[in-house]
Amino acid sequence: MNTKTPKNIAVFVSGTGSNFEAMLDKHIPVKLVVADRPCKALDRAKEVGIPTELIERKNFGVTFDRGLYTQKILEVLRTNDIHLVAMAGFMTILGESLFTEYDGFILNTHPSLLPLFKGDRAVRDALGAGAKETGCTIHIATARLDDGPILAQRSVPILPNDTTETLHERIKIEERALYPEVLKNILSGNLVLPHRVV
Ligand code: GRF
Repeated sequence: MNTKTPKNIAVFVSGTGSNFEAMLDKHIPVKLVVADRPCKALDRAKEVGIPTELIERKNFGVTFDRGLYTQKILEVLRTNDIHLVAMAGFMTILGESLFTEYDGFILNTHPSLLPLFKGDRAVRDALGAGAKETGCTIHIATARLDDGPILAQRSVPILPNDTTETLHERIKIEERALYPEVLKNILSGNLVLPHRVV
């Protein structure tokens, strides 16, 4: 599957999809949108005529079969001949088999300056730590959460009256500029993804 010059991009979403929207604005050719739940981003993809796959996750408990769920994701990616996955607010942690098959070709955006503040409370944690700045990171995702080689980062100052919401929104402004830029560089061959990252 893997190729050094990926062309077919799938965007993974779970929520608002403002990063996905920014990709559309910048004319990133998105071949497929995959969601783990009904969400605004999925509706938006349908509106603009991009093929969608809802692989609904119904179980958020400890009995969730991550391996089986990941297999379903892989089947959809294979069927659609996807070369590169761009996670954009996708809220399910996927199993190792995906990261093995798509090794080096899964991107993620995270709302902190990695390796600082990993996890789904990154913005709150940066505020709580009294940091003076935080930001966003576009990186190659691996089976380890919010890990993997960093492709690009932008910093954002933390202001005295910031709440998690105001800070996250300012971070997202930077993500929406940076993520499409990174994707453009990959598509044009200016940024070559390493084949193996672990
Ligand atoms: C982004 O801040 C991303 O870093 C985080 O989830 C948010 C997604 O926002 N993982 P949106 O759905 O693209 O608006």
